[in-house]
Amino acid sequence: MPRAAPGAVGAAIRGEFPILAEKTYLNSCSQGALSQRVRAAYEEYLRGWDQNGAEWGRWVERAEAMRASFARLLHATPDEIAITTSVSQAVAALVSALPLGERPRIVIGDYEFPTVGQIAHAQELRGAEVVHVRPASDGSIPPERFDEVVDERTALVCCTTISYRTGHRQDIGAIAAIAHSRGALCLADSYQAVGAMELDPGKLGVDFLTSGTVKYLLASAGLGFAYIRGELASSLLPTQTGWFADEDIFKMDIEDYSPAFSARRFDSGTPPVPNIYAGLAGASLVEEAGTSAIEDHIASLTAELVDGLDSLGAMVVTPHDPSARGPLVCVRSTDVDALLTALTADGVIASSRAQSLRLALHFYNTSDDVQAVLSSLARHRHLLAAAPGAPARVA
Ligand SMILES: Cc1ncc(COP(=O)(O)O)c(C=O)c1O
Repeated sequence: MPRAAPGAVGAAIRGEFPILAEKTYLNSCSQGALSQRVRAAYEEYLRGWDQNGAEWGRWVERAEAMRASFARLLHATPDEIAITTSVSQAVAALVSALPLGERPRIVIGDYEFPTVGQIAHAQELRGAEVVHVRPASDGSIPPERFDEVVDERTALVCCTTISYRTGHRQDIGAIAAIAHSRGALCLADSYQAVGAMELDPGKLGVDFLTSGTVKYLLASAGLGFAYIRGELASSLLPTQTGWFADEDIFKMDIEDYSPAFSARRFDSGTPPVPNIYAGLAGASLVEEAGTSAIEDHIASLTAELVDGLDSLGAMVVTPHDPSARGPLVCVRSTDVDALLTALTADGVIASSRAQSLRLALHFYNTSDDVQAVLSSLARHRHLLAAAPGAPARVA
């Protein structure tokens, strides 16, 4: 498998992704593009199964390699990583470990993905009280808004790193500090960030961080993970569990519950082996390029895109301040389904949430992609909502 050069972004990496020869791919917030390396990894899994039958030793070794790769991406240790099949499974396992008796409150920002909100509200059956933190008039959710509702009865504060709906970046370090000042824990769902930017949960001080491989880690569905800070794992007892979370999975004991000492206690059943092969391949592309180089590359493309959208008079929902956004730029449409259809016909792959078009940049995108989508949007300008104060449109 040829390695990409460190810092290889843009034109230097595009050859790995066949779809980029045909399309303007701006959909990494939904599904990362398929690489030759990920395709080869699936083939390797099938070949091994076909030639050798159940390769259990190899499969478990691959799962541990995946744990180590997730750890490297977050400057963490493998003992701080649980492997799951989705973010939903990770969040449900984390929340299942919270004693809600003395601390029944769960605080969630309004930009959480539905799964976080739904899992929080499911805890109402266990006596939880869920409090939402609403955005300010400029669309941001400043840490002070969390400060108003996090109290000594709060068990958990959930804040997403990048909003999947608007592209806002939250100050998760400041929110974690607020949670800790009241004795609460902090979970940062970072699915829209991992692989696209530098993230160090240890430095930021968050207790839990979740993500998966579908988006900027360039693999496919069925693999997620949770970071659980240092010593914290061994003090939490998840009631959502499984035999791969046991201290000794080969003991095959049905008489007791003895979870692993590390974050592996938040694993569950048989690991999702094919997805792990793909996940290792996708994450290796990100690791080789390096998250700092990727973040810098994305920042220059989002700046170019936002400038271009401003020139079109479009209503950009994502903040103009570069430090308050990540790889996702959202722009309001008057008819987002019609706009997506028009973009698809122009060879642009994007996605939408609510009335916003979502344009996601990754290390394989270039200035040509930005100019391609801007030209397409200029042609379909009538489907873009106008920014306040933008000149009136002539047809
Ligand atoms: C921020 C965020 N969290 C969670 C999810 C859902 O993750 P999963 O389907 O792995 O539970 C998504 C998927 O789009 C997401 O964008």
